[in-house]
Amino acid sequence: MRVVLINGSPRATGNTRLALDTMAEELKKESIETDIVHVGSQPIHGCIACGYCETSPEHRCVFKDDPVNETVEKMRQADGFILGAPTYYGGIAGAMKCFLDRAFYTSSGYFRYKVASAVAVVRRTGGLDTLHQLQNYLALGETITPPSQYWTVGYGTDKGELAEDPEGMQTIRKHARAFAWLLKVVDAGKKSVPLPPEEAHIYTNFIR
Ligand SMILES: Cc1cc2nc3c(=O)[nH]c(=O)nc-3n(C[C@H](O)[C@H](O)[C@H](O)COP(=O)(O)O)c2cc1C
Repeated sequence: MRVVLINGSPRATGNTRLALDTMAEELKKESIETDIVHVGSQPIHGCIACGYCETSPEHRCVFKDDPVNETVEKMRQADGFILGAPTYYGGIAGAMKCFLDRAFYTSSGYFRYKVASAVAVVRRTGGLDTLHQLQNYLALGETITPPSQYWTVGYGTDKGELAEDPEGMQTIRKHARAFAWLLKVVDAGKKSVPLPPEEAHIYTNFIR
């Protein structure tokens, strides 16, 4: 089994990376392969609502010159994925937001019933908002999220400071172990219990 971890921090080796490394370590102990992909420092175009992905054969994004299509393919192929982001002005840092809008708009249908979770890091305030924003993508992508003892928000400012937040680190470690367990349960369950039937999405926008 394989899990892709998305580092949405502009800093490749900051607290987000430490949170993801911590989760990856726990997953590896359970013989789960991991692949950490850093998207947070790259110039990533925002979604332009062109609709190209809705009609293109494999639901690819129209922009081919940044890491979105390639990274999304890794997420589609994986058994699960984890989103990590730092808090910038009370929310997801910019490049990661652009990545997620395009990743989930193109690929929610491929993520359905995968195991997925999110972790946010923060200096002081806004970590929970960031986590909830990340969880919005997971929920609307119809993914399944494991439990945790507390919100998966870690505290730190300078690179590596998250290590000095023992409760945050413990929460992240325990969450990773829950992730590994759920991944195995879902993998076993999918072999004997079919996914619930799908139906065409009905869109209403409250004015017609
Ligand atoms: C542009 C910018 C905006 C930030 N906004 C917030 C904020 O709203 N709340 C907060 O507590 N920390 C804020 N921070 C601090 C980061 O969330 C914190 O340093 C975090 O650990 C960075 O994660 P990283 O090490 O993975 O880059 C901000 C940092 C930057 C550079």
